[in-house]
Parts: sequence; C-alpha cells; structure tokens
Amino acid sequence: MSMGDEPAVDRNGELPAAAGGTPAKTVPYGREPKYRMESELQHLREALEQDTLFYAHGEKVSRLEREFAKMHGVRFAVACSSGTAAVHAAMIATGLSPGDEVITAPITDMGALIPILFQGGVPVFADVDPRSYTLSSEAVEQAITSRTRAVLAVHLVGNACDMHALRGICDRNGLVLIEDCAQAWGCMYDGKPVGAWGRVGCFSLNEFKHISCGEGGLCATDDAETARRLRLATDKGYERDAAATERAPRFLATNSRMTELQAAVALVQLEKLEGQISRRRRWCMGLSEKLQSTEGITIPATVPKCDPSWWFYILRVVPEVLGAGAGAFADALQQEGLAAAQDYVRQCVYEYPVFTGHSAFSRGTHPYTARDYGKGLCPTAEAVLDTAVALPINAGYTERDLDETALGIRKVAKWLRDKSQ
Ligand SMILES: Cc1ncc(COP(=O)(O)O)c(C=O)c1O
Repeated sequence: MSMGDEPAVDRNGELPAAAGGTPAKTVPYGREPKYRMESELQHLREALEQDTLFYAHGEKVSRLEREFAKMHGVRFAVACSSGTAAVHAAMIATGLSPGDEVITAPITDMGALIPILFQGGVPVFADVDPRSYTLSSEAVEQAITSRTRAVLAVHLVGNACDMHALRGICDRNGLVLIEDCAQAWGCMYDGKPVGAWGRVGCFSLNEFKHISCGEGGLCATDDAETARRLRLATDKGYERDAAATERAPRFLATNSRMTELQAAVALVQLEKLEGQISRRRRWCMGLSEKLQSTEGITIPATVPKCDPSWWFYILRVVPEVLGAGAGAFADALQQEGLAAAQDYVRQCVYEYPVFTGHSAFSRGTHPYTARDYGKGLCPTAEAVLDTAVALPINAGYTERDLDETALGIRKVAKWLRDKSQ
C-alpha cells in the first residue's frame, strides 16, 4: 500500500451516490501489473534457446517444481496444464475409480468437480460454515458412507478449511485427503502452507489467480509413490524414467503436461507471491477492522489458525437489518465507484444442469445418476450465496482505496438501515 495518499473524507454528509450523494471512490483503484516483463522475457528466451519446450527435456518445468516444492515444504511437486488437471491428476494418482464418492464443497469452481465426474466418481456435497464459507467438518463427517473414498477440501477465496479436523476425519475413516488450493496460494494454516496438509495439494495458475502463467497447475505431495503416479497421470501413463524396464501405461491417464513456456513465466510469478500476499493481507485486515462494527453486514471470518491469502473479500448482508438484499447493496456500492459484485458465484455447483439433469454424458449410466442434486442440499451455502457481496482484491490497492472502500460500504449500510426503519 502506498502510505502517502490523502485519506478519504466524507464530503457529503454520508449521503450515498445511490441517493444523489458524491461517490466515495474518487480515484481509480491501484493495480499491480500481473507480469514483470523483463524477468519473464528473460526466462522465456532461455526456454526457447533450449530448443525444446518439452518438460522432460528442458529445465524450466523441473526448476519450477523444485522451487514450488521447497516453498511449500513438501518433497515432491508435479506441474501440469491447469488447476482442473491438477485435481484430476490427484484423483487418478490416488486411485479414484467408478462409483467412489468424494465429499467436497458446494461453493467452488467446476474445475474441482470435472475430474471427479471424468473418473466415474460421485461428488457428495457437504455444507459450509456461515462465516468462513469453507467446509464444515461436522457436515463432512455426516456425509461419509461405505463408498466414500476421498475428501476434496476447497480452500475458498484464500481461506483454509479446518485442516486439523479434516485430517482427523480422513485418518479415522481411511479416506484420502486432497486439497484444492486453486484460490489459496500463500494461505497458511497452523504455520504450514495449504497444499502440504493432504495427500495431494492442487494449485491453479490460470489468469485470474494470485499468480498466473495464463494456464497451468501444480500438485504438491510428500509421498514418493503418489508423486510417481501424479507424473504418470499427467503424461498419458508413459513411464519416462530411464531406469524403468516397462514404459507402457498401466492405468488410464491423460495428457496435461506443462510446457517450458508456461513454467518460464510461472517461475517469475512464484518469486512475487510472498510480497503480493502480504499486501493483500494488510489491505483486507484493514478493511475488516474498519467494518467490524458496521450494522447490517457481516465481515468474513478467518478460520482459527489460518492466515488467509484473500483472493476475494466476501462480506454478507443482513437483509432483516438493511431492508435490502445483496443485489441492492452491491448495486449501491457500484454507484459509490467500488469494485463490488453481488457474488463470486451465483449458485451452488450442484444446482448446475450437469448435476440436476445428470447430463454429464449423452448416453449410458454414470454412477452419479444414483444421487439427486439440486436446491436444498446445503442450506447454509445457499444462504451465504444469497447474501454475499464480493469485492475483488488486487495487491496494488492503496491506503486511499481502503479508506474509500470502507467509507462507501459504511455509507450504503447506514443509508439502507435508516431507510428501512
Ligand atoms: C476452487 C477451484 N478449483 C479448481 C479450479 C480450476 O482451475 P483451472 O481454471 O486452472 O483449471 C479453480 C479455478 O477457478 C478453482 O477456483
């Protein structure tokens, strides 16, 4: 945050722009450039000069894997083409097979669900905590059946799941714990990075994540056999180890290899992760401090022992206090000039037609058709999405952005409260 900016003042007697007042935001939000140019170009040049872009022949992918593993305190890392591919590799490597159930979160991206369905697995949705929006460990425990094989813990918008509880549940029930860290680069839980708690931690490098190489993914694991299978899972099952006597695939895998070009960019992105996360933390903690006593909204709760990395900042409105819902609130914030959307996603994933209509494939019977999906499965998650207002976060946001954002939110909340009385 740049500290020299003038603090915002409420020049208009707290009247929000929606009621004819002056917008709280007076200057555009600060933005940190995504790519550093010279250093990325240098790595890209070196990648091209190798005269190969194939991961097993060049040096960029293997260096990225080494540095990512070191940063996460794990022994092994496997790079791949996307976050979806990382989750898929984790499912393949840990043996997810047709009919196996995977307990996971209802507020997430399809990238977490696609791999389960492609493996013939059955997604089972457990409800979330109303304040942190991450998986409720009680709900996970209740969702276990004799067919449960794995828990896919989604660390939503940079906030960790309760990993001590989830690990205990998985250990007691013989389940595989996989972490989806696509939205949680840099998030720490009890002093250890997310991604290092489960059998496999899966990360996305798509354009919209904390760090990016356009498209890309990474898997972290501490287990040598899982690492071997992760590599095979991303490379059509071909054994490339020179010492191997047999190269032919032994199980079904896909081609989700990362190229040297993606790794060249990702290597530079890794370097900027730590600084970026600390700037996001400072800004979001500052916002929570400024909003903590604002009536009519609830600020996001940090999971105990978690130091979140704030991909989005999601607050909830309390319609009974404001006399208005999330849509009207977000609309008024936008009129204040704030970067605000009604939601990060509009529906729980199980409300999508691919689930409600069991339409994953055109013909045949997939094991998930035995389960009913649709509204009502996870009432807390649905209530969260109905009342959520999401603020996108950028590491380049300034102190002035913080003051003006807090001012706009407080003004709108007060105006709605007064109107509703
Ligand atoms: C929670 C979660 N899992 C998986 C993915 C999939 O990542 P990718 O878009 O890189 O395939 C995303 C991407 O948005 C995500 O948010």
